[in-house]
Amino acid sequence: MAKKILLVLYDGKHHAKEQPLMLGCVENELGIRKFVEENGYELVTTSDKEGTESVVAKNLHDVEIIISTPFFPVYVTKERMEQAPNLKLCITAGVGSDHIDLNEANKRKIGVLEVTGSNVVSVAECVLETMLVLVRNFVPAHEIAMKGEWDIAQAAKMEFDLEDKVIATVGAGRIGYRVLERLVAFNPKKLYYYDYQDLAKEQVDNLNKVSEILNKRGDIVERVTSLEDMVSKSDIVTINCPLHESTKGLFNKKLISHMKDGSYLVNTARGAIVVAQDVSDALASGKLAGYGGDVWFPQPPPSDHPFITMRNKFGGGNAMTQHISGTSLDAQKRYCNGVKSILESYFSGKNDYRPQDVIVIDGHYATRAYGQNK
Ligand code: NAI
Repeated sequence: MAKKILLVLYDGKHHAKEQPLMLGCVENELGIRKFVEENGYELVTTSDKEGTESVVAKNLHDVEIIISTPFFPVYVTKERMEQAPNLKLCITAGVGSDHIDLNEANKRKIGVLEVTGSNVVSVAECVLETMLVLVRNFVPAHEIAMKGEWDIAQAAKMEFDLEDKVIATVGAGRIGYRVLERLVAFNPKKLYYYDYQDLAKEQVDNLNKVSEILNKRGDIVERVTSLEDMVSKSDIVTINCPLHESTKGLFNKKLISHMKDGSYLVNTARGAIVVAQDVSDALASGKLAGYGGDVWFPQPPPSDHPFITMRNKFGGGNAMTQHISGTSLDAQKRYCNGVKSILESYFSGKNDYRPQDVIVIDGHYATRAYGQNK
């Protein structure tokens, strides 16, 4: 009997035909069916992922590899691993493998790999977009215009410039650094980062040099070792670290209380890094002027999720989308190629993966990004 790969993706419906570049959906199967079958594997592709009667649940007993995306994640929990005795490998088509119980994967020596770097530019662009949408009060201004109305005051009363703001990132890895790079062009007052890993000296020098050339402001970047201290000094905070045990619920009522009144929070990392109800309350009270991003928990969210109805005291300040920042069509091409090369390496028996793609392997954390391996 052919060995089995379970591929869990969102439904493309008619969009899959209209846009053949959209590889990350059930219909287009990351473009890997032929390749997988030529290597003697059966490919089961589905979007039916929740509950005991789902296609996912029914295929666990003999699955060897599970592939899924963070955009429509299959939660590979301890219970599901118990039902999958042949599971050897989980691949994330994208970046961020928190939908997999990594500690349990280690106990069972299940490898977890992702396509590191595949969508980091896509997300960094989205972070900038979200900051601008919030600070420029774009959503309310757009809604007024689409109603055919002309009320400049209503939109302008919460519209600011990005220039001269203090902006901070929690996590300065591949995405966080690219966000800092792009922000320099907007002439910020200061750029802070909080991370247990230092930026390379060359990275800091580059940011400072470009800022000096563009804005006559050197020494723009500074590492901060207290998160409370950093958020208390920042007009805008962006979250760019993975979700793991010590970042789950990090932005709760307590940490948000340290933020500047009327500041903005942008989160394209993972929904569960913030406490959704606390964010919603902070918007309503005016503590936060805006919150935006693309990540929710769970995904898809229930219809009463606080992010759907949250607004600031003027009825704006919500810049949420579905989880799409890392799944631009350009990114899809990159993460599909990456999945294929991980599979090639696995099928060949060499397991000669790109080191940066390996999250856990042979029972230990190979990455430093998830906190367990600081
Ligand atoms: P990366 O591994 O290059 O960087 C992550 C950084 O976060 C590392 O420097 C790490 O030391 C730091 N970090 C970890 N725990 C921290 C903590 N408690 N406080 C401060 N810093 C901490 O990862 P990359 O590529 O920059 O991605 C970051 C995260 O962004 C991913 O793990 C994923 O959750 C999310 N992401 C979201 C996407 C989307 O479509 N919205 C797409 C791609 C990634």
